Amino acid sequence: MGAILYSFLAVSSLLSSVSCFPFRSAAQQLQSQQPTLNGLPSNSNVTLRYVALGVGNQNYTCNGATWVQTDAGDGALATLYDATAFLSLDTPAIKTLPSDRLAQFKATNECQDTANLLPYLTPLGIHYFDESNRPTFNLSHANPPLVLSSRKCDSVTAPVAGAVPWLYLIDANDGITNGLKAVYRLETAGGTAPSSCPSAETGSQTSIPYAAEYWLYD
Ligand SMILES: *[C@@H]1O[C@H](CO)[C@@H](O)[C@H](O)[C@H]1NC(C)=O
Ligand SMILES: *[C@@H]1O[C@H](CO)[C@@H](O)[C@H](O)[C@H]1NC(C)=O
Ligand SMILES: *[C@@H]1O[C@H](CO)[C@@H](O)[C@H](O)[C@H]1NC(C)=O
Repeated sequence: MGAILYSFLAVSSLLSSVSCFPFRSAAQQLQSQQPTLNGLPSNSNVTLRYVALGVGNQNYTCNGATWVQTDAGDGALATLYDATAFLSLDTPAIKTLPSDRLAQFKATNECQDTANLLPYLTPLGIHYFDESNRPTFNLSHANPPLVLSSRKCDSVTAPVAGAVPWLYLIDANDGITNGLKAVYRLETAGGTAPSSCPSAETGSQTSIPYAAEYWLYD
């Protein structure tokens, strides 16, 4: 009788805890934790799928006066790591993860594999600019795999010096995207080019390490 009563109490307390705290995925928990958008368009009409940590380089070409990102091979080339579960359990790290990882990336001579230090994050895919210079996110390790071929919709200055702007990118509608609608680049660290380049360096490329959070939505 005692055992039956005990198991009845255990089941009913389990049920009540389930109804008080319905299961929410890490992405659902993070949807409301998105960093202040600093003037970027609202995210209330899209559903968060992943928060990816991107670590890599921003490439620029000297046009004779300034560093630009308009030539082939310019733009971002970054490894994407799945930070969704980690950040859902450690929300203060939303602000610090990219700058911490950028410091590790630089300390390991920009070796991406060894820069994936603690907390170890599972590789999710890559971010690069395709041959039409479209920012592309290939989440080949997502389940199911996802792709976003994007175009820039909005950009605001990063709140931190030396950091590339915060961005809002949406589906470029070129038939390549699969399962995603939009991405915000937030909490950027590093990646900005020097303010000018000498005309003698016209056509040369420079590569500046950066890290960022990519909040990916469908
Ligand atoms: C969501 O709404 C914002 C603000 O109205 C708009 O700028 C944005 O393009 C919409 N996003 C999508 C994916 O439709
Ligand atoms: C960008 O710079 C990196 C690092 O120097 C280099 O490996 C890469 O080939 C460059 N081009 C592209 C398209 O990323
Ligand atoms: C994404 O990456 C996977 C694995 O490398 C590859 O098979 C696939 O073709 C890529 N998709 C796109 C759109 O580039």
